Amino acid sequence: MRKKVSVIGAGQTGASTAQRIIQAGYADIVLTDVVEGLAEGKALDLQESAPIVGFDALVTGVTTTPDGKGYEATANSDLVIITSGVPRKPGMSRDELLAVNQQVITTVVQAIVRYSPECVIVMLTNPVDAMTQLAYKVSGFPSNRVVGQAGILDTARYKTFIALELGVSFQNVDAYVLGGHGDAMVPLPRYTIVGGRPLTSLLPADKIEAIVERTRRGGEEIVKLLKTGSAFYAPSAALAEMANAILLDQKRILPCCAYLTGQYGINGLYVGVPVKLGQNGVEEIIEFALTSDESRALQQSANAVRSLVQAMKI
Ligand code: APR
Repeated sequence: MRKKVSVIGAGQTGASTAQRIIQAGYADIVLTDVVEGLAEGKALDLQESAPIVGFDALVTGVTTTPDGKGYEATANSDLVIITSGVPRKPGMSRDELLAVNQQVITTVVQAIVRYSPECVIVMLTNPVDAMTQLAYKVSGFPSNRVVGQAGILDTARYKTFIALELGVSFQNVDAYVLGGHGDAMVPLPRYTIVGGRPLTSLLPADKIEAIVERTRRGGEEIVKLLKTGSAFYAPSAALAEMANAILLDQKRILPCCAYLTGQYGINGLYVGVPVKLGQNGVEEIIEFALTSDESRALQQSANAVRSLVQAMKI
């Protein structure tokens, strides 16, 4: 029997994520949006690609209301991926999105939980660390079943810049970016390995610092180029990777936004750390040994997340 995934928000990232997952063939998808006909249209278009691409999974589109009605079709989802909300505009920080998206996510999560009380929730909507904490709070789920996507994308950007700089395959770079999905994110050059060799032995410190800085501003770089909307190809690839890890119980070690209960000296907060991702969601928080500088950077990043969480007054 196929798995069931609901993707909330049929915009750029939601639709692209649905495409990636449906093409894998192992899960049926319900795609929803508040814009009348948008989810239905994209779902039908995706379904009509089945004879060409070659999959048998079903994709259904549903229009929901902003006050949380119309979620019946999402019932009994194994996984719910939330991309609904307002994306960043040029010059707008992720943090400024907070108030707008807090309302959207509260309503969406209440509706999801009503119909899929056993699902795993994966959050994408920005500011993602705060929105994941909000989803955890509103859902009442155990923290392992609420997880955010940020680190896979940030790490992918970091790996991309390194591979381009060194002229090696993108797949030969093994790396982790920790912390919140903001300007204070924490790429870890010490844990970055390129084809078996540490990055620190391959590039001078100033080159590495420039790559780290570009990674921190990776989202902004794309927003500036696009002028309307934000990145969605790499974000949707990151979401599909998380869906595979959870629904296929892959036990992948991936950087995700997860609830910490004392690990890394952080308590009661969602922050980006390496986790083991499987059918139960976050099955383990992986603790890297950090230097005092790295640890300080992670605390600073966590503080930025904490101030957002406090601003939500949840
Ligand atoms: N329920 C369902 N869908 C909603 C709701 C809601 N309450 N409110 C908004 N939406 C829909 C919008 O109608 C839109 O189609 O969410 C979709 C968002 O899609 P885009 O505007 O294309 O944004 P996208 O680029 O996909 O980014 C989505 O991810 O990267 C983050 O900051 C980004 O928070 C944003 C999210």
